[in-house]
Amino acid sequence: MKSIDEGIKHNNFKIRTELNKEWLDKEIQFVLRKIDENLDIFKTKVPPAVSKNLVYIPEENTDWTASFWIGMLYLAYEYTNDDKYLHVIKIQLESFKDRLTKNIQLETHDIGFLYSLSCVAGYEVLNDKTAKETAIKAADKLMTRYHKKAKILQAWGDLSDPEQHGRMIIDCNMNLPLLYFASKVTGDKKYYDIAANHAEQAAKYIVRADSSTYHTFYMDTETGNPLYGKTAQGYTDQSCWARGQAWGVYGFVLSYVHTGNREFLDLSERLANYFLNRLPEDAICYWDLVFTDGSEERDSSAAAIMACGLLELSKHLPISNPYRELYENAAIKMIKSLAANYTTKEVPSNGILQHAVYSKPDDNGVDECCIWGDYYYFEALIRTAMSWKMYW
Ligand code: GLY
Repeated sequence: MKSIDEGIKHNNFKIRTELNKEWLDKEIQFVLRKIDENLDIFKTKVPPAVSKNLVYIPEENTDWTASFWIGMLYLAYEYTNDDKYLHVIKIQLESFKDRLTKNIQLETHDIGFLYSLSCVAGYEVLNDKTAKETAIKAADKLMTRYHKKAKILQAWGDLSDPEQHGRMIIDCNMNLPLLYFASKVTGDKKYYDIAANHAEQAAKYIVRADSSTYHTFYMDTETGNPLYGKTAQGYTDQSCWARGQAWGVYGFVLSYVHTGNREFLDLSERLANYFLNRLPEDAICYWDLVFTDGSEERDSSAAAIMACGLLELSKHLPISNPYRELYENAAIKMIKSLAANYTTKEVPSNGILQHAVYSKPDDNGVDECCIWGDYYYFEALIRTAMSWKMYW
């Protein structure tokens, strides 16, 4: 069943907010200063998923979030051409190769996040052949999470774990580009087929009739039948977790980019409209879209992901599409709003974007910096400042 399209009801995005080169460069210089301050402490280690009192404490490369730091280093390198970033990139790349060889905490679909931002980027930016080979091996590992009958990649845990068995999640759309990449460079279509099948199942079952999304959805892996949606990080099973919706907007447009299937592009638009209709005045979402005002926390990291997703989405829409410009305006408004009120310019922190939420139901990382928020904020700035080829 096709989900409904609400269109955009918000007047907030009709007028374009100015975004000029000087402003952008100044904001990028702020991000670069933060990265430079961190270069030494995160040479062999990485920032964790979330800060503690706005400070990232170095940890080993073991979590699903370990690649956002190296992703930022590639962006910094592409913007500046400065070898100091390259030096740390090479050390970090070794660590990703080592993690795969030793199979350290890779029972997760987030192999996609991990190896797109480390090794796919290593190949795309530096033409590093070893990075390409590592990315293909990582894609092989991700493929082992595929349930043939249900046609989905299991998100979390060991495949035999009864609590996680047959569970897919909206975030996974961002992990699929690793598989599309593997097909492109090997010429073997098996990776592509699995990625496209998963995206189709997510479109069918994770997206609800009103174009909101479940965070997670269980499939019966014996029969291939859909079971039920359930949240993990959202407010309730029926509410719409803001970051999940942002992963959906960006993730579906990526599946369109890699497959050319217009259904994914249309879906990304419908999800975007749902998201944009539920924003407060400053365009930065609450952590769940069920909240549109009040004292609940915002999730600046979801806004940063959404800004990137909207910029990518608008690139692929025809000039005749009435929302093409609105999506760009909304992305720019989010970037400006993040820059004005959500960065760490005025507070002691080694993070970049504050006021993010990792998981409110678990009371984990609430109103902190989240490392992916920093990455996507930087990606959004780079997208608007220069011509940039995606690592996704
Ligand atoms: N992908 C996990 C999260 O967004 O928290």
